[in-house]
Amino acid sequence: MRHVELIKNVERDFAVTPDQIKKVIRDFHSEMREGLSGQKSSLKMIPTYVERPKGAEKGTFIALDLGGTNFRVLALELKGNRTSEILFSKKAVLRKDVITASGRKLFDFMAHSVKKIIKIHATEPDKTRNIGFTFSFPIKQTGINSGTLIGWTKGFTAGGVRGKDVVRLMNSAFRRAGLPNAKIVAITNDTVSTLVSKSYEDPACDVGVILGTGTNACYCEKVKNITKSRFANFTAGEMLINIEWGNFNKLRLTPYDRLIDKFSKNPGKQLLEKMVSGMYLGEIVRVVLKEMSERGAIFRKTDKTALNKKDGFKTEYISAIENDSTKELYHVNDILKTIGVSKSLYSDRKAVRRICRAVSKRAARLGAAAIAAVVTKIDPRLLKPHTVAIDGSLYEKHAGFSRDIRHALCEVFPTAVRKSGIKISLTKDGSGKGAAVIAAIVKNARDRVARD
Ligand code: BGC
Repeated sequence: MRHVELIKNVERDFAVTPDQIKKVIRDFHSEMREGLSGQKSSLKMIPTYVERPKGAEKGTFIALDLGGTNFRVLALELKGNRTSEILFSKKAVLRKDVITASGRKLFDFMAHSVKKIIKIHATEPDKTRNIGFTFSFPIKQTGINSGTLIGWTKGFTAGGVRGKDVVRLMNSAFRRAGLPNAKIVAITNDTVSTLVSKSYEDPACDVGVILGTGTNACYCEKVKNITKSRFANFTAGEMLINIEWGNFNKLRLTPYDRLIDKFSKNPGKQLLEKMVSGMYLGEIVRVVLKEMSERGAIFRKTDKTALNKKDGFKTEYISAIENDSTKELYHVNDILKTIGVSKSLYSDRKAVRRICRAVSKRAARLGAAAIAAVVTKIDPRLLKPHTVAIDGSLYEKHAGFSRDIRHALCEVFPTAVRKSGIKISLTKDGSGKGAAVIAAIVKNARDRVARD
């Protein structure tokens, strides 16, 4: 087959048509309903015991944020008038040995990082008492301050944590680190934090999305629709549901997706995440390039063994490649050299750019389909305005991702998107800030009980 046809085939494999978007929306809706009623579903639909803030919460709170690549500690001052200020925000890079050895090593690492950071910032011990913890992995919650890990994602494998209450593990690590006052009062997912952080400012926010190393979303659901559980001490009429949409599996997989899944740390799981999130997009491109070069379609005159290296093609290259507007695609050439492909023809570089485009466009369109499904689950006829808060490196740093999402949403809901019925809002630091807001909600509720 000629190389032009091979590239066209790849583009066809990765295309997501408007009809396919509509099918994803329908399948999402039925999986969401099954998940809410406790039937078998690829969507876990986890009740979070969190309601949206009122915007009047006040005080200074510390938040911890364990996500994909970093561990962050921040202090947030809530002013009580829908505004807030980050007092400090520090991150510690999570080395591979820390996330793949034992749970104890991981939790001790976090406790020691907290100790160092709050010492540098001379935070009063009193202020370390009520800490919100964003823990961005699927947990089964039994309350706002307890949650057991269902399973690791995003390459984490730290032993001895699955099935355990991560709040207890963190509080014990604080004690071991000599921080007896530090106490986690709320555990939350990054999607929930993002939604809460945005809705502290904007009451129309009812969906929170992460498009970063991993992907997921949460939304506001009526408690009466969550028929799988009873919530004895939860009095609000609505609760945020952590969808864990990364695990959605009603999808048309290409042979490349099957390969990625097979060689991942969690085969058979997180299929949507493996097509959409930053952890995998570069790897998809590498697998496609490798196959095309093996079939003699590209890189015919050079050594391409470099393409055999798993994870050798970083997701951040995709955006740089797509945006290369130089005449001979010099930036593409530089990136290819960086990964070890020493010589490339102009036609090779054009092919690489088209493949990057196909992979990232599919990711954005599937992300848009999932967002559309969640918004229409809340409001099927789109009668009210909705703000979708999005945080995550992929959305923030990948030029073109937000534009592709908007285009796809416009295809399905032209009027609502244009008239700002669906507003997408980049919510930077939402994943950290929201945990501080939730800690404030918990403290207010406790103060109320103590007063009554
Ligand atoms: C996790 C989610 C998280 C998402 C984004 C996924 O791998 O399962 O809990 O919200 O990544 O960080």
